[in-house]
Amino acid sequence: MPRHLLVAEDLTAHEIEAVFAVTRDLQVKFDEGIREPLMPGRVLALVFEKPSLRTRVSFQTAMVHLGGSSLFLGADTGFASSRESVDDFGKVLSQYVDGIVCRTKSHDTLEALAASSSVPVINGLSDASHPCQALADIYTLRQHAGRVQGLKLAFVGDGNNVARSLAMVSALLGMRFVLAGPEAYHFGQDFLDHVARIAPGAELIQTTDPHEAVRDAAVVYTDVWASMGQEKEREERHKAFRAYQVNAALMASAPEAIFMHCLPAHRGEEVTDEVIDGPQSVVIQEAANRLHVQKGLIAWLLGHAN
Ligand code: CP
Ligand code: NVA
Repeated sequence: MPRHLLVAEDLTAHEIEAVFAVTRDLQVKFDEGIREPLMPGRVLALVFEKPSLRTRVSFQTAMVHLGGSSLFLGADTGFASSRESVDDFGKVLSQYVDGIVCRTKSHDTLEALAASSSVPVINGLSDASHPCQALADIYTLRQHAGRVQGLKLAFVGDGNNVARSLAMVSALLGMRFVLAGPEAYHFGQDFLDHVARIAPGAELIQTTDPHEAVRDAAVVYTDVWASMGQEKEREERHKAFRAYQVNAALMASAPEAIFMHCLPAHRGEEVTDEVIDGPQSVVIQEAANRLHVQKGLIAWLLGHAN
């Protein structure tokens, strides 16, 4: 059975630190102009059902830096369509390549692909989770704060895929996590119970008060109010989340915090220009770290599996 990364908790805290250690090593070398070819002749396939800039380009570039290559497989390959079953697709594709990154509409499709694949499958975002994003985000926080344990991450907005993965990585690494949003968009009890099972004693709080949430936070994080696939709910979500915009008034309650956003951002909605372009924002470094952390992840996961 290959080792997959479908959700953040597929890695232990110890393994996350191991990925970060490989990342740091590769990043130091990269800054010195060295691109260590740890994956010569290896091929990574990218199977995407939804648009992407950061995930797609950072994985493809990562493979070039590591001395391997990648294939971007869009809608014309017929993934998750009437052309053939996901099972057949996964069994065949995994004979050709060394790893698969997949972005799916439904997490069930990702699980079906992983079940049929003889090589590691990495979640490049599903409706349920976005573990590569969360790993890069927490790595970025570590670069800023020098540590993560005990620090508070305040996520203001929707309890979505990104929020779930951040909550899980936070719990694994001993961080405090607060979700501020309308109750209808909080995490469900199933997810809370799941986090408590994986990381007993982890602090995960939900509130409707964004100012209370961001007090003493090391990170104020937000994401779009309507994720890909939720376009039809846009209007009702905008009404529900209006009071949860991350703006200068909210950031004033967290003067020591850095501001993060996975991007793409809808400026003027979940975040103002003043905040995302302001002195507390680290969103560009955060996006850059997708490349570095995914290099560490590929080297660790594919090395681990083979
Ligand atoms: N943050 C992120 O995953 O961006 P893309 O959708 O552009 O890949
Ligand atoms: N929650 C967003 C994240 C995009 C990177 C979405 O799923 O569309």
